[in-house]
Amino acid sequence: MCGIVGVVSKKQIVSNVIEGLKKLEYRGYDSAGVATTTGDGIKNIRTIGKMKNLVKALAKTSIEGSCAIGHTRWATHGKPSLVNAHPHVSHDNIAVVHNGIIENHLALKSFLLNSGYNYQSDTDTETIAHLIHNILLSEKDLLKACIKCMKMLHGSFAMAVICDDMPDKIILAKNACPLVIGIAANEKSVASDVSALPQSIEHVIYLEDGDLAEITANSYQIYDESGQKVHREKFRPHPNSFSKGKEAYDHYMQKEIYEQPKVAQLAMSGRIENNRVTDNFISHDLKMVLKKLENIHIVACGTSYHAGLVAGYWIEKLVKVSCRIDIASEYRYRSPVVPKNALFITISQSGETADSLAALKFAKKSGYLFTLSVCNVDNSAICRESDETLLTKAGIEIGVASTKSLTSQLIVLGLLTLKLAEIKNIEPRIVKKMTKELSTISAVLSQALHQSKKVKALAESIANKDHVLFLGRGQHYPIAMEAALKFKEISYIHAEAYAAGELKHGPLALVDNNMPVITVCPNDQLLDKLISNIEEVKARGGQMYVFADKTCNSKIKNNNHIDFENCGQFISPIVFNVPFQLLAYYVGVIRGNDVDQPRNLAKSVTVE
Ligand code: M6R
Repeated sequence: MCGIVGVVSKKQIVSNVIEGLKKLEYRGYDSAGVATTTGDGIKNIRTIGKMKNLVKALAKTSIEGSCAIGHTRWATHGKPSLVNAHPHVSHDNIAVVHNGIIENHLALKSFLLNSGYNYQSDTDTETIAHLIHNILLSEKDLLKACIKCMKMLHGSFAMAVICDDMPDKIILAKNACPLVIGIAANEKSVASDVSALPQSIEHVIYLEDGDLAEITANSYQIYDESGQKVHREKFRPHPNSFSKGKEAYDHYMQKEIYEQPKVAQLAMSGRIENNRVTDNFISHDLKMVLKKLENIHIVACGTSYHAGLVAGYWIEKLVKVSCRIDIASEYRYRSPVVPKNALFITISQSGETADSLAALKFAKKSGYLFTLSVCNVDNSAICRESDETLLTKAGIEIGVASTKSLTSQLIVLGLLTLKLAEIKNIEPRIVKKMTKELSTISAVLSQALHQSKKVKALAESIANKDHVLFLGRGQHYPIAMEAALKFKEISYIHAEAYAAGELKHGPLALVDNNMPVITVCPNDQLLDKLISNIEEVKARGGQMYVFADKTCNSKIKNNNHIDFENCGQFISPIVFNVPFQLLAYYVGVIRGNDVDQPRNLAKSVTVE
């Protein structure tokens, strides 16, 4: 989604802002721009399309300055176009970059039009620029004007404002969208994502909702919405917050798929000892909650939702605790009934997803025992809002498609399942066996990646299709759902997932000799049932492809299948997900798609 970067320094820093914006490219955007104070009027340059267009345009100008803001835009109000790109400027004096949505901008716009302001764009952000300009006519102080402005805005926003009359400061404001300050000795910076801050920063400060801040090269001060000074804690930035680049890989998505054995080690590290999940995996408070727990609600979006679905199968099967899993945007609006002694779990890679965050805030007021998040980005909004966080430790994920983050989420949810079973004293022998199995995950993932050539060959045979069906049963049904999600977002081919048993209740009508049907086939108690489903497809002439556990080879009568080593039933969904990631990746590459930044998508979806 939209990204913000700003730097104020003693030296010329437009190129630093550009570097920061490049680091936000992975989040998805359609236009970009940068503005700087000069003391002789704001200089502003914007381009549509990729960052390289902005870099080219800048090379043709002499724009420089020591106080600048930049933006990558993902259209919400108004189509992607030059006039709608940020920064938005009022009277050559005020420039604003903004993430989020101003819900009452039409009312404010009408007031500003009546006051003689001319609009260049269709955006809500231009209203903020004019409004601050208008307030400054009487207020004279930029911070005070921003405080007044913020009080008039309804909606979600993170914004950075510069003013040419006060050319050495940036004013920041945050409500429901992330914004973080970077602190170095003679330079202060701001970004919507820590990864976009200069690597030279010594500390970061996460602004809270309702906060404003004034940053100059040598100082920073944070205020609440009434203008009172407030203190916010400083943190050392985590080295994992910064990307090391693509290294030897062609794409970030490919790199992140291949990183998974290592990511699995990190997610497990220090969390299993002597075939037991360690005591410090969870806090004492959470342990007390798990003891009396009777119900779990899991809420998430996209791939993280699929992680929740798999965990639901694990928890209900092993621990017999009722587990309901919801899509975050549905949960909030379905008037959920909170059952007795219930734990609320939010799963999110970014920790910023607006729907998941809103669901969590709603849940906090709804009578759950405890709120837990499973999250990759430490200190993100979801972590800060939760009573406790289990970090997935996958490292920064740049590809818009979630790959390694799902693997690490499943590992953490697997550990939680085992801990819960231990606390409830359920089947200690089985729990020990499952813990042993989970300890092998890194090695098993490496083996699965060895099948990439065969997956590539399958990709070549289906890359020209218009539709693909994915099938799975039981705890592998969410893996089929994830396969379909990954496939459509990266290949742009229509894909659907079905619980294999559901096929004859409708979707079988789609199957003919032009329809690839891909199924995940583990050797579990549902194997015979799945084989019947495979036969149903073949009898209708469908092109059946099977990702199968080697040990059920003799039972499957199908020419197109790829074998995987038997890994045990518990970790099987984590392992079978990997070939589906590879399949989506290869088909996307064959079709010439931008696999790291698929069209129309954003890495973290910070608007509802
Ligand atoms: O950061 P989150 O895990 O909360 O993001 C949730 C979804 O937006 C995300 O998983 C999305 O579906 C991915 N593009 C899937 O690859």
